[in-house]
Amino acid sequence: MQIPADVLTVLTDPRTIISGDRVAVPFELDRDLYDRMNKMLKDVGGRWDGHKAVRAHVFPFPVEQFMRDCLAAGEWPSKFEQGWYPTPPKVVLDMLEHASIRVGHTVLEPSAGTGSLAVRAAEEMGIVDCVEIDPRRAHVLRELGVARQVIQGDFLGLDPLAIDEPYDRILMNPPFGNAIAHVMHALGFMKDGGTLVAVMPESITWRLERPAQEFRKLIADNKGEVISLPGDAFKPSGADVRTVLLVLDGGPESTLPTHGWNQRQPRQLDLFATA
Ligand SMILES: C[S@@+](CC[C@H](N)C(=O)[O-])C[C@H]1O[C@@H](n2cnc3c(N)ncnc32)[C@H](O)[C@@H]1O
Repeated sequence: MQIPADVLTVLTDPRTIISGDRVAVPFELDRDLYDRMNKMLKDVGGRWDGHKAVRAHVFPFPVEQFMRDCLAAGEWPSKFEQGWYPTPPKVVLDMLEHASIRVGHTVLEPSAGTGSLAVRAAEEMGIVDCVEIDPRRAHVLRELGVARQVIQGDFLGLDPLAIDEPYDRILMNPPFGNAIAHVMHALGFMKDGGTLVAVMPESITWRLERPAQEFRKLIADNKGEVISLPGDAFKPSGADVRTVLLVLDGGPESTLPTHGWNQRQPRQLDLFATA
């Protein structure tokens, strides 16, 4: 949801304190403006505490990084907006550990939001490319200046065979409504021998639809790891959803549909073409 301009002005005012688990506005607001700010802060998990010693919106999690993401994007997560739930810092650390990015590794973040994963991958000295469908978030990514390339567009519409160099690492927290399709598509951009680390909804472990069953088989055939995250892992991003980390390595025995695998598939021959 778009943060109203006057609420954004209040929250980015140098006097406003965003620290630890609190957001405190130590100056007078008119009732209407306060109500709209209160609505936004409550929507992302804050609760007004009027005790004299507090007088702030208090959150059940450290709120600084999350608020920084929201204020940079000018919005807060809403299920109506392509599922933007920034990856919380603890989950990012976990993902980096599994990804083992080395200096000069190429890294793709195919649904990059405002860069929670991309920034940390760049700090690990990866060469990071980002894709993001939402123009506001793509703008934030460009402003961050950590990515070699930011493509604003639909990742699912990009052709993996159109790239010359597949990636060493794929790090992703895709929109949960279509997470399997995003991960399957991302594998097409991965090098043979590369690693994909994705946050996914826990439902991929039990859903009965055919794509979910085939996905689980692919994971099992390739000795992928599915690691449960704590039930409240996404609370810092305002989402109450159970999640897992998926780690897939495209080793020599792999049957994953990587970039190389796609290239090895026979081309459709147009046998009936006329000269
Ligand atoms: C769950 S958020 C994750 C953001 C970021 N990866 C992070 O970890 O903070 C999913 C992001 O995917 C973007 N998105 C949704 N559909 C997309 C698509 N088809 N192509 C590219 N990005 C997409 C959304 O706009 C949103 O920013």
